[in-house]
Amino acid sequence: MELDLKGRSLLTWLDYSSEEIRYLLELSKKVKKEKKKIHQRFIGKTIALIFEKRSTRTRCAFETAIGEEGGHAVFLSTDDIQLGAKETVKDTACVLGRMFDAIEFRGFKQSVLYDLVNYSGVPVYNGLTDSYHPTQVLADVMTIEENFGHSTGKHLCFIGDGRNNVAYSLMVISAKLGINFTIITPPELKPDKDLFEKCGSLSQSNSAECLVTSDINAVKGADAVYTDVWVSMGEEAVKVEREKLLLPYQVNKNLMEKTGNKNCIFLHCLPAIREEEVSAEIIDGPNSRVWDEAENRKHTIKAIMLATLGLV
Ligand code: CP
Ligand code: NVA
Repeated sequence: MELDLKGRSLLTWLDYSSEEIRYLLELSKKVKKEKKKIHQRFIGKTIALIFEKRSTRTRCAFETAIGEEGGHAVFLSTDDIQLGAKETVKDTACVLGRMFDAIEFRGFKQSVLYDLVNYSGVPVYNGLTDSYHPTQVLADVMTIEENFGHSTGKHLCFIGDGRNNVAYSLMVISAKLGINFTIITPPELKPDKDLFEKCGSLSQSNSAECLVTSDINAVKGADAVYTDVWVSMGEEAVKVEREKLLLPYQVNKNLMEKTGNKNCIFLHCLPAIREEEVSAEIIDGPNSRVWDEAENRKHTIKAIMLATLGLV
């Protein structure tokens, strides 16, 4: 299947069709399979990497993916550049659009991405905002498919903060691909009603279910259990309250046993805090796939850049 994604930005998977996501997944697998081959597909290409928040995986995935194939990434921490201090997003976008072939943005507000798209004229990739983390979940689905051969019809359970960026992106991509998706979270952290309803009807049209519950027994039958930090970047002020709320939702041996599925895999976007959202026994245990997941960040990000820069 060949699809033309040249010039497209990636702000949320809501903007992509199921076929387009499937195409990017297959391209990611091809990129991974050919990782030992010498390619130089990004020669002459440059990307600006804007970071308002910290990053290990996302930054390294973008930098190594483009750099090893002859392209060049420029890391722009907002502690160092004019954006956010003296300069508007619009002016920054106009300038970067004249110098770079693409822009990655990690930060707080999703709305910044729209300004970058509107004023730069180049593809813009969401490297995580308070609302979504789309490049992450493409790698997550790829990891699920590497394990089970397919993801459609599988049951993915996210347990933890039900309204964070990773939970939201998992909900959207699952709905688009027909993955049964359950969020297990305390009532205080239930996802936004509109997004949940939108994903509910998308799931239905793809013969899958999208559920939200506070009952940890809902992990029964899960093929993959996923968690994320209890306190996302920028939410440090609610740490104590959040830890109290989420303690009963820790992923540990007892929780994994509740799946009743010995082959259930464990996923985490990382960074992880052992003995908070997940016990060391699980994240470092035989069913954990977190290192594959982290590696797949690079292959999926490379695939997204290849497709949207028109290099496939
Ligand atoms: N999973 C993820 O986005 O990791 P970083 O915050 O290290 O980029
Ligand atoms: N929800 C986490 C994800 C980190 C990759 C955060 O936003 O900090």
